[in-house]
Amino acid sequence: MPAVKIIIINGPNLNLLGIREKEIYGTTSFKKYFEYLTNKFPDAELTCYQSNSEGDIINKLHETGFSYDGIILNAAAYTHTSLALADAVTAINTPVVEVHISNIFARETLRHKSLTAPFCKGLIAGFGLKSYELAIKSFLP
Ligand code: DQA
Repeated sequence: MPAVKIIIINGPNLNLLGIREKEIYGTTSFKKYFEYLTNKFPDAELTCYQSNSEGDIINKLHETGFSYDGIILNAAAYTHTSLALADAVTAINTPVVEVHISNIFARETLRHKSLTAPFCKGLIAGFGLKSYELAIKSFLP
């Protein structure tokens, strides 16, 4: 059986994981956590991508959204603002699982709304970096 092909797409400021607001996002860099994920799921074909730019994230959704088995999207602050990202999620065929490290519903009111979640297969939020691991599991048999 071919490996399940999954991409993690991280949005703005997530390049600063491990440095940024550690009390919310923890002390581990995504590079380190991604190493853990690739060891944990040797049978999955995992890749990751990060951009601070909305257009680049949309381009990556278009690029992977017709050939990958799953997309894990943490659009960070664009989650709450971007109709263009919501349209991109709708436009592609690959199922998208939305992920957040923090529980966005337990934070400021402006973070309670996700423009992208209604078009995703599911939403996982609030488990720290483990949210990504749970999302990967959702794509595995
Ligand atoms: C986040 C939550 C967003 O509200 C915030 O803008 C982020 C990270 C999370 O993973 O918890 O940058 O998506």
